[in-house]
Amino acid sequence: MVNKKRVLSAMRPTGRLHLGHYFGALKNWINIQQQDFESFFMVADLHALTSNYADTSKIKDDTIDMVIDWLTAGIDPKKAVIFRQSDVKEHSELFLILSMITPLGWLYRCPTYKEQLNEIKNKDLNNYGFLGYPVLMASDILLYKAQNVPVGEDQLAHLEFSREIARRFNNFYGKILLEPKALLTKSAKVPGLDRRKMSKSYNNSILIAETEEEIVRKVKTMYTDPERIKATDIGHPEGCVVFAFQELFNKDAQKRKEECKQGCVGCMKCKKELMELMCEYAKPMMKRRDELLKDRCYIEKILNEGKEKAKFEANKTMQEIKKALKIF
Ligand code: TRP
Repeated sequence: MVNKKRVLSAMRPTGRLHLGHYFGALKNWINIQQQDFESFFMVADLHALTSNYADTSKIKDDTIDMVIDWLTAGIDPKKAVIFRQSDVKEHSELFLILSMITPLGWLYRCPTYKEQLNEIKNKDLNNYGFLGYPVLMASDILLYKAQNVPVGEDQLAHLEFSREIARRFNNFYGKILLEPKALLTKSAKVPGLDRRKMSKSYNNSILIAETEEEIVRKVKTMYTDPERIKATDIGHPEGCVVFAFQELFNKDAQKRKEECKQGCVGCMKCKKELMELMCEYAKPMMKRRDELLKDRCYIEKILNEGKEKAKFEANKTMQEIKKALKIF
């Protein structure tokens, strides 16, 4: 039998997910899970600690809420291994070993490190764990010998780091680790209600499972073409948030684009139709989420099953690593 290719990906626990997460990553995960891959999807709760070490109170609940949304969106525990990073101690163990061979320059030069230090001002990120973020991420991937890692463009530097550290490890101790390849998610750009990037911290997001009332309320506040006063004015769909969502939810978005450009359809009507399409999409999501919410034990059960499967694989690699290091 030909071995199936293995895929691993992860998200930091952020609680309930929004449409940016869905169209940016989850949809792709669901697609992968359907194909002939062995998929591992992990909650990166230790990664959450690298920046949220001062207030850890939400990590556990956010983990459960996020897994509920994974399942709501269609991740299937029968097809994919769903687990929590902190449940598999091998991640921490490999993190320690890799940190010994990680040149500091690689970490200081990492573009995401510099960027986040500059951007995030409400937390002190001058800690060792935050600098080591890519080492922990490399441990996640290398531990499972994952060939493919679906990520967005923002994570490519981390993936390159994982490849380099695998090469360095193999040079020192023999060919054990596999250099992973990125499965670049061609993600649709999902703007927030106000046209900035959709983000929880900007308060401009629409959740994956949202009530009809909320969808209606939020679509009403969406940014539209400011140059259009009357419905018959010529519209500019590029840069219009309502149109960006039409593209995500309406099969006939191209037709809508023309209608807008020719001034044949007004923004109010366009919004109203979008509300209907989005409510249609949200209805089964809400139903599924409500069912999952009734049984949080079920989520724990899935995470426990995932833990056992992940541990089994992680332990296999760890044994090889220990043997190669000759000190264990
Ligand atoms: N750094 C990733 C992010 O912020 C999350 C992550 C942690 C990850 N470990 C991983 C992604 C391993 C892919 C593979 O999105």
